[in-house]
Amino acid sequence: MHLEIFHLYKEFSSKKGTIVALKDINMHVETGEFVCAVGASGSGKSTLLRLIAGLDYPTYGEITVDYQPVTKPGADRGMVFQKYTLYPWMSVQKNVEFGLKLLGISASKRRERASYYLDIVGLANFAKSLPKELSGGMKQRVAIARALATNPKILLMDEPFGALDIQTKESMQQFLLEIWRKTGSTILMITHDVREAVFLSQRVYVLSARPGTVKQEFKINLPNDRDYRIKRQPNFHHQADEIMDLLRNI
Ligand SMILES: Nc1ncnc2c1ncn2[C@@H]1O[C@H](COP(=O)(O)OP(=O)(O)O)[C@@H](O)[C@H]1O
Ligand SMILES: [Mg+2]
Repeated sequence: MHLEIFHLYKEFSSKKGTIVALKDINMHVETGEFVCAVGASGSGKSTLLRLIAGLDYPTYGEITVDYQPVTKPGADRGMVFQKYTLYPWMSVQKNVEFGLKLLGISASKRRERASYYLDIVGLANFAKSLPKELSGGMKQRVAIARALATNPKILLMDEPFGALDIQTKESMQQFLLEIWRKTGSTILMITHDVREAVFLSQRVYVLSARPGTVKQEFKINLPNDRDYRIKRQPNFHHQADEIMDLLRNI
């Protein structure tokens, strides 16, 4: 898997004139990487993810997945959003199966694959439950299982833990790292939370706001088998502080 973003611009027209949401964004993500992009609200993070997902078009520039230009949504890119996007009338199992049905996968294979990923996210016992019976963290675990079940080349996550309380958020971060290691997934996650980005990723792109552009790329120097205890180490704080200082000055 190779995701490449070349000289990407996105402009919106409004009554007040043109809004440059993204300006000359260059990024890449390679197989097995966990990459985060951090930026303040309004730095174009959701716009960037929507363009990669093929839900909107760039004004200039190009996005490629394995050297093929992105022109529309596709099963090679799995999405997890901040807002809970489960179908309320479908069971947890059916929610995970839904995308597989759209791909034309047989009923028995759908059941098998959905059960496999519900097990991975620790929700095998909730397969028959409805989304309203789950906590916020559990709903996001279903959304992750649903995205992984279609075997995407890359998982795109837009502030997936932004609506969760701090304890749930921290356990979801730890959980996502475990999933990443267990499944060998490639992940690009967007967040405004610098500590979250440093804790999770191997590389961080720092975006400035209005127009959203890449200010700097940081390589995170922490072991891949890190867990929550790393957040107490000076090395973790040093790297997070460096990124926060940069954000403060842009
Ligand atoms: N569909 C749209 N039409 C007009 N302006 C938009 C649209 N989507 C986003 N924007 C503008 O683009 C900028 C970036 O928005 P967004 O990508 O949502 O940022 P973030 O997710 O980092 O908070 C903002 O100024 C926002 O108002
Ligand atoms: Mg956003």
